[in-house]
Amino acid sequence: MSCKFQNVGKLFPGNIWAVKDFSLEIKGGEFVSFLGPSGCGKTTTLRMIAGLEENTHGVIQIDNDVVSDPKNKKFLPPEKRHVGMMFQSYAVWPHMNVFKNVAYPLKFQNLSKSKIKEDVTAVLKTVELDGLESRKPSELSGGQQQRVALARGLVMKPRILLLDEPLSNLDAKLREKMRRDIRSIQQQLKLTLVYVTHDQKEAFQMSDRVVVMNKGQIEQIGTPSQIQTEPKTPFVKEFVEVGR
Ligand SMILES: Nc1ncnc2c1ncn2[C@@H]1O[C@H](COP(=O)(O)OP(=O)(O)OP(=O)(O)O)[C@@H](O)[C@H]1O
Ligand SMILES: [Mg+2]
Repeated sequence: MSCKFQNVGKLFPGNIWAVKDFSLEIKGGEFVSFLGPSGCGKTTTLRMIAGLEENTHGVIQIDNDVVSDPKNKKFLPPEKRHVGMMFQSYAVWPHMNVFKNVAYPLKFQNLSKSKIKEDVTAVLKTVELDGLESRKPSELSGGQQQRVALARGLVMKPRILLLDEPLSNLDAKLREKMRRDIRSIQQQLKLTLVYVTHDQKEAFQMSDRVVVMNKGQIEQIGTPSQIQTEPKTPFVKEFVEVGR
């Protein structure tokens, strides 16, 4: 599903522009990464898509629905946006087994027990955790726990999946595997996916397009190869060189 930002801004009290004049159109089934240094506004932008943060300026659309337009006092709350999200601290519930962790977001949707079972079973299969339904997170590897969190983000068949530095807790080898897994699940489900990272290798390896951000603003939007071979601003040029 598509997502469109028109001149979106977030002004926090104290005159802090976390995000400014952000315009971008994400196509259905596209994998887009927000890439940039700490504090450049990546998480804030992601939270505005989910409705966890209200933009103070501009318009956000998901598909053809305006989900936020402060000028016209329009704001759709998170639970009505059908957006899945997985945070850096992915926080699977330690006291719940895998099945219950993944079923959790469905609790609020008035579904029958059998429908919940069906949906959870299907998503566990997608992330290759079938058979581990009754394990507790402490009985899983780091990568398996990460996949529980991913399954929880996928289970309500989100219109868009938002991932905020989801792999930063993993060691290098596992991170590499999860990158490939996430990309292949995204392609298999034709998911629209927005991925936040400050790791340019990760962004370039996984994404259809990369949005390079700096101080709340977009420096460049392009395919990984465009960003790498035709950096449009001094900031992007330096960022790409330093990260090599
Ligand atoms: N609630 C808030 N009140 C005031 N300023 C905030 C608030 N939340 C974030 N900011 C500021 O907005 C800017 C963008 O923050 P954001 O969390 O979006 O950055 P980020 O790109 O995700 O950084 P990181 O890579 O460190 O996670 C930062 O300067 C931050 O200090
Ligand atoms: Mg962040």
